[in-house]
Amino acid sequence: MVIAACGTEIEYIMTCGQYCYPIDEAIAVDHMTLEAIALGLGTCWIGAFYEDQVKEILEIPDNIRVVAMLTLGYPAESPSARPRKDLEEVIVYEKWRV
Ligand SMILES: Cc1cc2nc3c(=O)[nH]c(=O)nc-3n(C[C@H](O)[C@H](O)[C@H](O)COP(=O)(O)O)c2cc1C
Repeated sequence: MVIAACGTEIEYIMTCGQYCYPIDEAIAVDHMTLEAIALGLGTCWIGAFYEDQVKEILEIPDNIRVVAMLTLGYPAESPSARPRKDLEEVIVYEKWRV
């Protein structure tokens, strides 16, 4: 199956200046990926979709945004974990340093 994660409150901007809905949706979809793994399922986050076409197919109103698509199913493969960057490469402490 494919889940279309939609933002319904698309006007709200947090005091930090960021729109709330894409962040809410990202958190929600990320939790879905974790729960899927816990249930023995697999997922793939899909950003390569055309929102206008998804909205047309699913008859989603103009005032709703489709933030992400998530495939969900029983995985055909069990690939090993991919390599990760060292924390020192992705975290800076106290002040921004390049
Ligand atoms: C914002 C976002 C969009 C993505 N869009 C796609 C996509 O359109 N098609 C696809 O096959 N995978 C997509 N992915 C999945 C990534 O290619 C990758 O499989 C996933 O992030 C796991 O990577 P990792 O093993 O480094 O954690 C997307 C991932 C993210 C976070």
